[in-house]
Amino acid sequence: MKILVTGASGLLGKKTMELLSLSKRFEVIGTYLTHPNEMIYKLDITNKISVEAFFHDFNFDIVIHAAALVDADYCEKDKELCENINVIGTMNLVDVCKKNGKKLLFVSSDYIFDGDRPPYTEDSAPHPVNFYGVTKLEGEEIIKKNLDDYIIIRPPLLYGDDDETKPDFITTLLKKLKNNEKIFLDNEIIKYPTLTEDIAQSILALISVDAKGIFNTGSDEGITKYQWAKKIAQFYGYTEDSIFENKESPSAPRPLNVLLDSSKIKRLNISFANIEQGLKKTFKTDYAKKFNFRIIRSKDVPLEDRSPYGGYFIKRLFNGQLNDSDENVGLYETIIRPHSTVKSHYHKNLDEILYFFTACFLVIGSEKIEIHPNDTVILPRGVPHEVITQNEEVRLLAIKIPNIVEDKRIYKH
Ligand SMILES: NC(=O)c1ccc[n+]([C@@H]2O[C@H](COP(=O)([O-])OP(=O)(O)OC[C@H]3O[C@@H](n4cnc5c(N)ncnc54)[C@H](OP(=O)(O)O)[C@@H]3O)[C@@H](O)[C@H]2O)c1
Repeated sequence: MKILVTGASGLLGKKTMELLSLSKRFEVIGTYLTHPNEMIYKLDITNKISVEAFFHDFNFDIVIHAAALVDADYCEKDKELCENINVIGTMNLVDVCKKNGKKLLFVSSDYIFDGDRPPYTEDSAPHPVNFYGVTKLEGEEIIKKNLDDYIIIRPPLLYGDDDETKPDFITTLLKKLKNNEKIFLDNEIIKYPTLTEDIAQSILALISVDAKGIFNTGSDEGITKYQWAKKIAQFYGYTEDSIFENKESPSAPRPLNVLLDSSKIKRLNISFANIEQGLKKTFKTDYAKKFNFRIIRSKDVPLEDRSPYGGYFIKRLFNGQLNDSDENVGLYETIIRPHSTVKSHYHKNLDEILYFFTACFLVIGSEKIEIHPNDTVILPRGVPHEVITQNEEVRLLAIKIPNIVEDKRIYKH
């Protein structure tokens, strides 16, 4: 089955192409307009003749239409361009699908709703509050009027792994945090950030079952951009002090709270990552405050904080935030053979506490550290580490903690 993905150089199109290609069930051909890469073709969807010729050359079975002018403020300023890409471009693709009897999957938006009366089902009345939303709704209407075999999906704010050409919210924010820039963000409008990967999975599921009709596709955890940024900063180990509330209105009005009821697509076994899961899934080592590890030497630990083994009483470290019944805490005892090494690795989603019964060397980043028996090492996620043994086997306990936890106690070491 041959599939065309328009907007394959974009945040969502790229992820969709990647996922469909991986499934090996489809031949996937993607297009771009201004951001080329080796794997995709140039196609301006506003040019009817080019669209027809492209379709004629490849004879697609399904069109996934993810190309659009997405910047709502820019759309408000240049309505003609926005209309041309989002409406005329969509119409050109609808025409070729209609002529050739092919299926179209259109990526619409939560911005077709006004955000005044959430939640919104697939049947709720649309009422866009900005021009971008108007053009996405027009796209939907052209499709409904002209095609029988179509799918319309409506994602909210998208984020996910991306490259430097199309930085998403998280990447842009991390860059600013790293550069100590002041960051101003809205703290009124409730957004429902959704992973591109989850939308790409939705697209795969929908075309796999040959679905038809409209599907809301969004996470149901609401958050303002300001609150989200604070969570991101905290997760990556940055101070939140440079993040401020922005009181200025954007040039395009925004819907206040478009909570989508996505229960229809969830029946296809699709789920949407919440904020915390999304942070873990998109973890970027480059931006994490690396090498922020701590070593607590057993001799420096006061008697009352020593474990029965003589080392650091780990439960105390988190002021009682951890307890024995915490299912999220993984505890492993490991033995490493003499003269061997545990190759350098880092954990994407886990903080780790290593408690050593035996002496060894630990390489953290490029630093080689001598470890004594009963030393405790705290390794936040993203810190590359390697254990090197000498003449004797090394015994250690590793505690893996998926939730970021703050060490409230301070010890000299
Ligand atoms: N991003 C969001 O938060 C969000 C939220 C809800 C819905 N959506 C919808 O999701 C879809 C994908 O959005 P996205 O975030 O992936 O957008 P994006 O990263 O801005 O990518 C837009 C894509 O459209 C292409 N494009 C623009 N004008 C074109 C034209 N005239 N001819 C052909 N291709 C053209 C771009 O190509 P070049 O980059 O190569 O020029 C790019 O590949 C859109 O339909 C959007 O409305 C997005």
